[in-house]
Amino acid sequence: MAITNSAFGPARGLDFTAARDGRHRRAQAAAGVEPVGPCLIGARPAPITHGDRVNASPSSDDIDSEFQKAVEHYQGNRFAEATALLDRLAPRCGGRAEYFRLRGHIAMRNRDPAAALIALQRAAELAPRAAVHQFELGEHYRMSGKPAEAMRQYRQALALEPGAAVVRIALAGVLALTGQVRAALGEVDQAVAAAGDNLQALLAAALAYRDLKQADAAIRTLRRASALRPDDLKIQAFLRELYTSQVRPWHFRMMNDTARNRAYDAAIRRAVGPTTHVLEIGTGSGLLSMMAARAGARLVSTCEQVESIAETAAEIVRRNGFGERVKVIPKRSTQLAIGVDLPERADILISEILSDKLLEESVLSSTAHARRQLLKPNGVMIPRAIAAVVRLAGGDFLREAAMVDRIEGFDLTPFNRFVPNSITLSMEAGQMESYSDDVEVFRFDLMADNHRPEERRLPVTARRSGTVIGLLQWLRLELDAVESFENRPTDTVTPSAWRQVFYPFTQPVALREGETLTLWAAHDLVSMAFAPIVESRQHSAISSQQGR
Ligand SMILES: C[S@@+](CC[C@H](N)C(=O)[O-])C[C@H]1O[C@@H](n2cnc3c(N)ncnc32)[C@H](O)[C@@H]1O
Repeated sequence: MAITNSAFGPARGLDFTAARDGRHRRAQAAAGVEPVGPCLIGARPAPITHGDRVNASPSSDDIDSEFQKAVEHYQGNRFAEATALLDRLAPRCGGRAEYFRLRGHIAMRNRDPAAALIALQRAAELAPRAAVHQFELGEHYRMSGKPAEAMRQYRQALALEPGAAVVRIALAGVLALTGQVRAALGEVDQAVAAAGDNLQALLAAALAYRDLKQADAAIRTLRRASALRPDDLKIQAFLRELYTSQVRPWHFRMMNDTARNRAYDAAIRRAVGPTTHVLEIGTGSGLLSMMAARAGARLVSTCEQVESIAETAAEIVRRNGFGERVKVIPKRSTQLAIGVDLPERADILISEILSDKLLEESVLSSTAHARRQLLKPNGVMIPRAIAAVVRLAGGDFLREAAMVDRIEGFDLTPFNRFVPNSITLSMEAGQMESYSDDVEVFRFDLMADNHRPEERRLPVTARRSGTVIGLLQWLRLELDAVESFENRPTDTVTPSAWRQVFYPFTQPVALREGETLTLWAAHDLVSMAFAPIVESRQHSAISSQQGR
């Protein structure tokens, strides 16, 4: 009896330990996969083979047909009838593994795992060379929280049937549960290699990859499943879930940000000539690389760390006729090597790996690495510098986004101990009250090699009297000597793809026009923090009574 036969279709058994969480179950349901459980007597039960006929006799055909009736009762959820029939068959079927297998499955459906264990153990003993029985016993152990025993059974099944992809994935699940993630991945890789056109195995492997945080491998595997069932909406929904887990929604706002795109394009056109080799870090859709190719670059090498994005960018580049000159490399920039990925150092380094909070996409370390390792000594960088700009801000919109005061006559102010460190917003000018000029808190020269964590104290003068709720922060990019770009809130008619970030103070600060607040600002190369230094004589934190 081969484990790859139809009996190993979707498992429909009783998962009495409810081992997996709700999210996992939803995804499985989305993919049309049910948990691999011990109840593998599917729509077409595995036939009783001659190898199982220990008591073969002239009446064995009758026994087969009686047993088949018991299977049908089981499949129809008529467990009492199935059990009664099996009880009658017991004296004549005592040596049959399939008989005990069915008893085991019925016990599982009757929520009697102890009886199921005895029956499945007996089936495994009676047919030691049938992988299916070893596997199902392993499944019982897994669901009973006995990973070592489960692994032993799975390995026994795999020794009998090395190509049993479903068993490998089950083994991978237990390995992952016991912290052996690398070994688990190895098993899933082997399962996928052996899966062929086995849809269930491909779906189970895609789920396993997803759970092991290997979204690219999950996508690759699910695309194979999708090719087998192109019209299966559940598979499409799962594929979409995986794709969207890889690409954050802001990508679309970013690609549609005309002001950003034009600023980059202008700087790229000024820098690029017919002999230029451009390196771009972070391909995304390939947009900036195609701009460089369109501007006449001889070669554009561009790298993207997310495999599915890189693959899509390569398709886009070909579609737009730049396949010859734009080379998409599916790697993180820090893995690139001259002579392997790039023929030589680049003349220009383009990057747009800037988060709303400026630093969080590791822009400083990635560009520094690329400048040192992959750019010619006097190469051009676009952008050449980046900065975080802030202003003191207040008004009802920001106050309500960040803190509470008196609500329906109740004083809720203690809840303000949970005031968030930052809130990402897309500000229209009218939604905010400005209390200061713009202040460039940190500027990073990307051509320099000396970035260190910093702390600063900056005097910021109030331009009007009122209550400051916190700081609004945005980005400034110096693309070249001519071109700069800011997502400055008051300048933005159409909101930029980059959002402004609001850093609420822990409590509001009342200021009079002309007063100076000392602002503490710090960064650790990947994140920033801000706080007002409140001198009690000078500033008064407003009391709850002064609120709305
Ligand atoms: C903000 S998007 C920009 C996409 C495109 N360059 C554009 O401007 O439209 C950044 C992309 O860079 C990728 N990325 C970020 N850091 C990277 C690095 N160090 N190496 C390779 N890819 C990186 C991200 O996965 C993401 O797809």
